[in-house]
Order: sequence, then C-alpha cells, then structure tokens
Amino acid sequence: MANQDMFDLTGRNALVTGGGRGLGKAMARGLAQYGANIAIVDIDLETAQSAAQEIEALGVQSLALRGDVRREEDAERTVNEVVEALGSLDILLNNAGIATVEPAETLSLADFKRIYDIDVTGVFLFSKAAFRPMSQQGRGNIINIASMAGISVPDPQKHTHYNSAKAAVIMLTKSLAAEWARSGIRVNALAPGYMITPPVIKMRAEDPERWAFWMSRVPMGRAGAPPELQGAVIYLASDASSYMTGNIMVIDGGYTCW
Ligand SMILES: NC(=O)c1ccc[n+]([C@@H]2O[C@H](COP(=O)([O-])OP(=O)(O)OC[C@H]3O[C@@H](n4cnc5c(N)ncnc54)[C@H](O)[C@@H]3O)[C@@H](O)[C@H]2O)c1
Repeated sequence: MANQDMFDLTGRNALVTGGGRGLGKAMARGLAQYGANIAIVDIDLETAQSAAQEIEALGVQSLALRGDVRREEDAERTVNEVVEALGSLDILLNNAGIATVEPAETLSLADFKRIYDIDVTGVFLFSKAAFRPMSQQGRGNIINIASMAGISVPDPQKHTHYNSAKAAVIMLTKSLAAEWARSGIRVNALAPGYMITPPVIKMRAEDPERWAFWMSRVPMGRAGAPPELQGAVIYLASDASSYMTGNIMVIDGGYTCW
C-alpha cells in the first residue's frame, strides 16, 4: 500500500449520527472528501437532508434518514437501510449528543436521564446494531465522540451529568474495543474541547464574559473550528490507524494539559 493511499476511504460506507449540523456534519464532509459514501441519521430529518445534499455535491453517494439514537428500533432500522442502500456498513460515527448546564443539587432525574439516554445509550444502541453487519464482513470501524469533559471537569460549568456521560462514552469505547477486536472491529473515540457549533455559538452570544473566561483556560486561547476534527476522524476511519483500537484522541487546544 502506497503511503498516500493509507487514508483513502473510496467505496467505504459510513453512518453518522447527529450528522445534520455541527461537528457531525463537518466530520461527515471530511470522510466524504476522502471518498466515503455517507448516511446521515438525525432526529431532525430536514437538517439531515440538507447535509446529505451538500455531501452528495462532493461526488459520493449520500442518504438522509430520520432516527432517534435513544430508540433501539431506529438503530436497527437505519443500520439495515444503510446496508441495503449502500451494500455494507464500514464506518459508524457515533456523534449525536447534547449538553445542558445545571448544578447537581437541582438537576432533575428526568434531565439526568435525558443526557444519558442520548449521549451514552445512543452510542451503545448504534454500536450494537452495527456489530451484526460489521462482524459478518469481518471488518468495521466505530468512532465515538466523547469530550474533554469526560477526562477533566471544565471550569466552571456545572454539568455533572454531561461530564460523567462522556466518561461513560470513553469506557464504552475501550470495552467494545476489547470485546470486538477479534471480530475485526476497531473502536476509538475523539475527545474534542470547545468547538464552534450552534449550541456553543448561542452560549457565546448570550454570555460573552463566560466565553472570555472559557477561552482564557485554553492554552491555545481559542475554540476549535469543526473542520479541525476532520484529519483525526479520517485517520481513525482509515487504514492509516489499522493497529489502533480503544484509543481516545484528545483534540482540545491543550485544555486538559492544565
Ligand atoms: N461543540 C463542542 O464544543 C463539543 C465539544 C466536545 C464534544 N462535543 C460533542 O460533539 C457532538 C456533536 O456536538 P455539536 O456541538 O455538533 O452539537 P449540535 O447540537 O450542533 O449537533 C447535534 C446534532 O445531533 C442531533 N441530535 C440531537 N439529539 C438526537 C437524537 N436523540 N438522535 C439523533 N440525533 C440527535 C441534532 O439534531 C443535531 O443535528 C456531541 O456528542 C457533543 O457532546 C461537542
């Protein structure tokens, strides 16, 4: 294999949860630019459709499916639809996730469970659904989007539920990597720091002072742009990382160094 081909994803088929906007869409575009066909699965079908259209313009196949990562039947159905439409499922990017801020002592059980259902259970359900086609073909690649918040507590956000959910994503990644390595399935995670996506843009506009504090805590002094995750996700999805599994790649401008 020539060196320049190590990152080639031509003919590989990827499913991206929550790929309608934000980091999911940017990473899906990156995979498509290296040749992968893309299925966007999002709870919001309209954003999924517009992202899929943009991706198709890059010259690959693309489809948009409505799916809620909390529902096992949606995971099974969308994985089956992707295999039927594209012929295989080679890459699963478990990206869908949400965050809220609330001190632990006033956080309701319903809000605690909502974060876990989307951010943790969703990763489990889609990974479980992907296991069947990936193990049958003896090859598959799962990439989970964790967060620097799963490694250290971002100051001063009070979101115990989010931090612990992302820590669970990290341990799910390592556990599935160990269980499925001999089925030919690699499982790795990305742990981004502050990235400029719609929920972060909203927060920055609402509270510029808090934003300035956040940025003062980042060694690089700035938030990341979504395309700055593309190189890592292409690396993880491709043969360039063929001996890597159970790894957590931290991309946070140095936040977790301090
Ligand atoms: N933006 C950041 O600073 C940052 C940092 C670290 C980690 N992350 C993680 O990256 C991922 C993407 O975040 P983002 O900032 O791009 O968010 P975003 O809100 O811009 O995009 C999230 C997407 O997920 C979809 N979604 C939400 N709930 C869903 C569900 N139940 N089923 C299917 N789709 C659903 C939304 O419709 C949306 O398209 C999340 O897991 C988030 O925790 C984000």
